[in-house]
Amino acid sequence: MSHVKSSVQTGSKRRIIICAGTGCVSSGALKVHGALLKKLSERNMDIDVKLAPESQNLHLSKSGCQGFCQMGPLVTVLPDNILYCKVTTSDVDDIVEQTILKGEVVQRLTYLDPATNKHCTSYDEIPFYTRQTRFVLKECGWIDPESLNEYIATGGYGGAIKAFLEMTPEEICREVIASGLRGRGGGGFPTGRKWEIARMQPAEKKYVICNGDEGDPGAFMNRSVMEGNPHAVIEGLMIAARAIGSDEVYVYVRAEYPLAVKRMNMAVEDAEAAGILGNNIFGTGKRMKCTILPSAGAFVCGEETAMLASIEGLRGTPVPKPPFPAQCGLRGKPTIINNVETLAQIPRILLAGAQSFKKMGTPASPGTKTFALTGHVVNTGLIEVPFGTTLREIVFSIGGGVTTDEGTPTDGMFKAVQVGGPSGGCLPPELLDMPLDFDSLLSAGAMVGSGGLVVMNQQTCMVSVARFFMEFTQRESCGKCVLCREGTRQLLVLLDDVIEGRATLQTLDIMELLAKSIKLGSLCGLGKTAPNAVLSTLKYFRAEFESHVVDKQCPTGQCSLLTKPDRVTA
Ligand SMILES: Cc1cc2nc3c(=O)[nH]c(=O)nc-3n(C[C@H](O)[C@H](O)[C@H](O)COP(=O)(O)O)c2cc1C
Ligand code: SF4
Ligand code: FES
Repeated sequence: MSHVKSSVQTGSKRRIIICAGTGCVSSGALKVHGALLKKLSERNMDIDVKLAPESQNLHLSKSGCQGFCQMGPLVTVLPDNILYCKVTTSDVDDIVEQTILKGEVVQRLTYLDPATNKHCTSYDEIPFYTRQTRFVLKECGWIDPESLNEYIATGGYGGAIKAFLEMTPEEICREVIASGLRGRGGGGFPTGRKWEIARMQPAEKKYVICNGDEGDPGAFMNRSVMEGNPHAVIEGLMIAARAIGSDEVYVYVRAEYPLAVKRMNMAVEDAEAAGILGNNIFGTGKRMKCTILPSAGAFVCGEETAMLASIEGLRGTPVPKPPFPAQCGLRGKPTIINNVETLAQIPRILLAGAQSFKKMGTPASPGTKTFALTGHVVNTGLIEVPFGTTLREIVFSIGGGVTTDEGTPTDGMFKAVQVGGPSGGCLPPELLDMPLDFDSLLSAGAMVGSGGLVVMNQQTCMVSVARFFMEFTQRESCGKCVLCREGTRQLLVLLDDVIEGRATLQTLDIMELLAKSIKLGSLCGLGKTAPNAVLSTLKYFRAEFESHVVDKQCPTGQCSLLTKPDRVTA
C-alpha cells in the first residue's frame, strides 16, 4: 500500500495532473488533456491514465477542483511541484518539450503574484494556497476522483474499516461528539448529538441522507467535494450509517451538477464491485446500499423536511419540527441528514481522532470550513480555512485584495462582504477583524450558511445588493406561509421604492418591521433568514439607504432613476 500512496502523492514517478473540475472543464481542460495525451504519444512516451503502482510510466490523470478556478485550466507536474495556470492546447508542446523532457519550468505559464510581481512556480509559493488549511479538500485536486485505488492509496476507507471492524455504534457517536463537529450545511448543529438521537431510536429501519442540493447562487463547495473526492462522501455516509444502525443511504445531489452526479454514481459502482458497498461489506456480512438521487431543482428542497418529501415523490415543502428527522424522517423512519462537507470530514476524524480535529478552529467551532470566494477580489475560487480566521485574512491575504468592477486590483476599495449566501448578511469594513465562526457571524447578523463569501467594492450599491438577494429568496419561497410568501414580495416593493426614489424615511422603518415579522412568522429556515440581507444592510449601511431616500441620490451612481453624486465614490 505504501508505495501506491507515494506514487499518488509525490513519489519519484512523473505525474501530470489536469484539473477537471467544472470550472477548468468549462475553460478547456479536457482539450488540454487530449492534446497532452496526443503529444506524449507522438513523442513515444509510455503513459498510464490510471494509477499503476508498479509501473514507471508517466502518469497522466485528471483531478477535481484545485480551488484556484479563475486561473484554470490548471496543470500540475509532480514530483517537480510545478503549477501551470490558464493552460491552453497551444501550451502543450512547451510543457512536454521543456518540462517533461528537459525538466525546465515554462515561466510564462506560472502564476504571477500581482502583489510582488514575482512568478510562483509551485503551490507553496502562492499566497492563495499557503494561507489555507486544506483538511476536507486535502485530496481534492490531487487524486483521480474516478479511481477507487487512488482513494484507497491515500488512506481512503480506513475510517469505515475502523468503524465496522473496531468500533461499536456508541463509540463512533462518542468520538464524533468529542470532536465537536458542527454541521456544515448552515445550521451548525452538533453532528454527533444528531447521530446519538437517531441511534437511540428503537426502529428496525433507519436511513442516512447526504444533502448535496447546494442551491445557493455562487456556492460550489459541495459540488467540488462530490466531483473531486466522491468516495470520501460515501465513506462518511457509511460511518454515519454504522453509528445509527442503518443499512441504506442516499445522496441527494443538485440535478444541475451533472459531473457530480456522474462521479458519485461511478464511485458507488466501484465501491460495490470492491465489496465496500453491497451485501457483505468488508467481509462482515453486513449490508450497505447507496443510491444517488438527482434533486428536484428547487432551493427549498435543500431544507431537510422538504427534501424528505421530495425523495418520497411528494411536492418539496417544509413541515414543522418536531418530530425531527432523526426521530421520524424518510418513510416515517429515523433519518440522519448531513451536508456533503460534514460527511466528508468524518473519515479523517475517525482516523486522526477527535482531539486532533479539535486542534483546528475555535473551541466552539472546531475544524475548518470551505468557502466559495467570489466578487470583487483578486483571487476567486474555492478555499478552506480553520474557523476563527478573520475576514481580513480571507479577503486580503488569500483573496489578494479588492478589485474594481473591471477586475483591476485596487487599494482602499473594500466596502462589504456578504457571508452565508442569500440567507446571510452583508458585513462592513469595521468587522474585517471578526473571527469567522458560527456564533460570531450570527451575532453580527450574518451566518456561515453553506459558505458563500462575496466581496464587494466601493462601486457597489448596498440597496441593490439587498434587493438582489431578496429577489432570490422571494422567488424560491414555497408559498406555504403568508409572511414568507407575501412579506418577501412586499419587501421587494419597498426596496424598489427606495431604488426608484419614491421612499421616505418611514419606508425604512416599515421595511425593518416587516423584515423582523417575516423572520418570526416563517416556518422554515428560508423565511426565517430571507430578510437577513435587508436587515444587515440597513444596520451597517443605513446612511446609503438614507441618501437614496432623503437626497434621492445613489452614492455609487448605480440606481439609474436617482441622481448621481458629483463624484462617485470609486
Ligand atoms: C431553504 C433551505 C435550503 C437548504 N439547503 C441546504 C443545502 O443545499 N445543503 C445542505 O446541506 N443543507 C441545506 N439546508 C440545511 C438543511 O435543512 C439541514 O440543516 C442540513 O442538511 C443538515 O446537515 P448538517 O447538520 O450536516 O449541516 C437548507 C436549509 C434551508 C432552510
Ligand atoms: S418559510 Fe417560506 S419556504 Fe419555508 S415553508 Fe414557509 S413559505 Fe415555504
Ligand atoms: S475547477 Fe479547476 S481549479 Fe476549480
